Amino acid sequence: MDTTANQELRIDTLSDNSGMFGHPSGLSTLFFTEFWERFSYYGMRSILVLYMTATVEQGGLGFDVKTAATLYGTYTMWVYLTGLPGGLAADRLLGAKLAVLLGGVVIVFGHISMVFHSLTFFYGGLTLIAIGTGLLKPNISTMVGSLYSEDDPRRDSGFSLFYMGINIGALLAPLSVGYLAQGESFKRFLVSMGFNPATSWHWGFGAAAVGMTLGLIVYLRNRKRLESVGNRTTRQQKKEERAVASTPLTSTDWKRIGAIFVFFLFTILFWAAYEQKGASLNLFARDLVRTEVFGMRFPSSWLQSCTPAFVILLAPFFSYLWVRLGTRQPSSPVKFTLGLVFIGLAYCLLVPAAWMTGQGRISPLWLVGLYFLEVIGEMCLSPVGLSTVSKLAPVKLVGIMMGVWFLAAAFGNKLAGYLSTFFVVNNPTQLVKLYGGIAVGLLISAGILALLTPRVKKLMGSVN
Ligand code: PHE
Repeated sequence: MDTTANQELRIDTLSDNSGMFGHPSGLSTLFFTEFWERFSYYGMRSILVLYMTATVEQGGLGFDVKTAATLYGTYTMWVYLTGLPGGLAADRLLGAKLAVLLGGVVIVFGHISMVFHSLTFFYGGLTLIAIGTGLLKPNISTMVGSLYSEDDPRRDSGFSLFYMGINIGALLAPLSVGYLAQGESFKRFLVSMGFNPATSWHWGFGAAAVGMTLGLIVYLRNRKRLESVGNRTTRQQKKEERAVASTPLTSTDWKRIGAIFVFFLFTILFWAAYEQKGASLNLFARDLVRTEVFGMRFPSSWLQSCTPAFVILLAPFFSYLWVRLGTRQPSSPVKFTLGLVFIGLAYCLLVPAAWMTGQGRISPLWLVGLYFLEVIGEMCLSPVGLSTVSKLAPVKLVGIMMGVWFLAAAFGNKLAGYLSTFFVVNNPTQLVKLYGGIAVGLLISAGILALLTPRVKKLMGSVN
């Protein structure tokens, strides 16, 4: 049980509704910290492959597509793999609050490292960002959870707000970082100030560093609001946890873990397609799309703001829809299947689009359409996945199971990088094969999951 002091603090938090929209005040601290962390992550990522494949004269690293896409996959995989030791370090040693702080500091150093044009600093930067994100990302989500009691009616809406913060950061990131890295007017500005315009990439990386620094400032200045959450577990608590953890799993537990495993496999495939946006679709946008609206050119990386923008637009609609449907809403495996169907359909759009690139650059609306369908898929699968995992996992394994959820993102990202190695710019047939293959693969896996649904439901038992 909690110590008396802890209990008092908890009661404090539970009655705290002084923050945004009647939520505990700590939520806004976590919201803005995660907003800036995601800003730095997605901002840097929006130009990463472009920087790697740009020629040395353009200030890039001059990597070929295969090398760049493989590295993209490996890096983004590690960003989420480190979530497992990051979560453990918080549980066992640091407490979530300190882990987030440390993670943020490490991330800032990572981005600063990338400001320098040197391979050593480049690899060093990627490594630091991966380590820092592992310390920060899972633990900040845990802290959001600890702001509420299990049955607090504000809990889900707190997570939805937090998800908004993530996506607002992800929306603004390519717009600003991408502009600094690729924007023509910014390059002219650099020249007018006497800088080499080929350094523009590093201004972009610098903006990511500034973003994470702002996140840290928010976090530190408002740390008082987080007094009751994310603290180190006391020796007594650890002992109790160990006692709970040593009770054997029941057969119901095992069945539910089995259901989580099925979701896990299909989620990997979903992210593998979804995360093309930072890799092959980023190159697609740069080389094959007319990046202009009303005669004005825009940086190709801006197209990566489409998905977060659609999430922000569609998320409220979907949460309304699920509430409205109430008990008539589809079960989790059906929602998962729908997620795969929509992302499969999204890639069907790219088949004619890829074919048309043989005749020259195509309209950006093809990618906008793809991203729109993808986000419908995401709305069916991602938030549902998270809440299903938290409902299905045996209580003592929730933390680890959340780590497993990140693991799916990790493997999915690696696969995304691998698939992107097949991107060849001036070969429409190859592009049709690549994107058509992704579409067919996802639609087939949706079919398989649909067939498995009755069995998965059985494994899930009373949870739906
Ligand atoms: N948009 C989500 C985020 O950045 C994507 C994600 C899902 C990442 C699941 C990790 C795990 O948080």
